[in-house]
Amino acid sequence: MQNFVFYNPTKIIFGQNTIPTIGPETSAWGKRCLLVYGAGSIKRNNIFATVSTALQEAGITVTEHGGVRSNPLLSHVREGIAKAKSENVDVVVAVGGGSVLDSAKAICAGAVVEHDVWKFFTGKKSIKQVLPLTTVLTLAASGSEMNSGMVITNDDTREKFGFGNRKLFPKTSILDPEATFSVPPDYTAYGAVDAVAHILEFYMTTQDPSTPVQDRFMEGLIRNAMDSCDRCLVDPHDYQARADLMWTATLALNGLTAAGLGRVGFPMHMIEHSLSALYDVPHGAGLSMVIPGWLRWHSIRETRKIIQLGERIFDFQLRDIEPTAYATIKILENWFSRINSPIRLSESGIPPADIPAIADNALKLAKIWRLDQYSREDIEGILSLCR
Ligand code: NZQ
Ligand code: ZN
Repeated sequence: MQNFVFYNPTKIIFGQNTIPTIGPETSAWGKRCLLVYGAGSIKRNNIFATVSTALQEAGITVTEHGGVRSNPLLSHVREGIAKAKSENVDVVVAVGGGSVLDSAKAICAGAVVEHDVWKFFTGKKSIKQVLPLTTVLTLAASGSEMNSGMVITNDDTREKFGFGNRKLFPKTSILDPEATFSVPPDYTAYGAVDAVAHILEFYMTTQDPSTPVQDRFMEGLIRNAMDSCDRCLVDPHDYQARADLMWTATLALNGLTAAGLGRVGFPMHMIEHSLSALYDVPHGAGLSMVIPGWLRWHSIRETRKIIQLGERIFDFQLRDIEPTAYATIKILENWFSRINSPIRLSESGIPPADIPAIADNALKLAKIWRLDQYSREDIEGILSLCR
């Protein structure tokens, strides 16, 4: 157990019929809000109406900034910042999945400075203050609802960079599992893959040989993400399954799993962000193409945690499976395929000839995230195992 500081100020309101609380929760921070949302799902499932009524009843004026697309773009964030400044908003409300919440976080940071917001992502500027943010989550995946991270794609340079700062934690996030009933099967699966990936990154990259508390916690979360995803795909209106998946995805990246692990990394995300930046693949789909290849590459160096994971959550002994890294990776791959998330670059039409360009793109983020142990050759090697 390494020394750690755990800090997470986000208030979570979880459960059925909780979305109307967005009104009073937001009015605690401001009276003129920018309402950030996606390409229309919240208008189709009535969440937009519920949120608008709640904000109105709380005496909050609303300026809309819809049209966030999946794998959100810097250009749209810049438009939101200009709108926030011209309307002199004092609070931001985000309603959607990780793409919407991350865009809103970038607007909160960019609306209070004169320089371009991308300077935060490239490390040229640091965040001093931000506009307050409240959120209504509609897709279980990223964990953005309870963390201080944001990921945006620069549409000019095709760089998809992630950046974190403790000022970016939402003030309050509303998690009503019923809001995710309308999430289609593909994004339900991609969301579960993302949650599993967040846990695998820390589970596999900690250098501490003895982390029993975190390991059991993480193993349980991975098992829950897989089981609840399978139940959601059987019945998208299974409230308990949606609730289990939603809270699992939040716990997977709110800092709890990493506490006490010491230095950890995000190598699979470092590579995936280049796939979604260059080919616009959904984040979770990109991850299920990268995870098996990275685990195979990693297993050449170290197999203990890969085998432990299999033994503990895939019942090797019970199922009389020889405990090998190969067996764990194979079971994960089979699950990805069973939920229709791709496991090879070729399934997304990404040709092997593109691997050098992908590696170049990923190397930029490796530098920003200080994953210095990954050379260009390493990244190419991993990608060639994902072909
Ligand atoms: O835009 P709308 O119409 O809302 O449709 C969205 C979008 O097409 C749809 N959707 C969302 N909620 C729905 C729904 N459709 C029906 N019913 C609902 N209730 O789902 C599609 C995907 O939404 P998106 O927000 O892109 O998905 P997700 O939550 O997986 O977020 C992905 C983004 O989060 C970033 C990813 O890189 C990606 O850009 N991440 C953010 C992280 C963070 N802040 O810590 C960490 C993650 O690792 C990840 O990088
Ligand atoms: Zn992720």
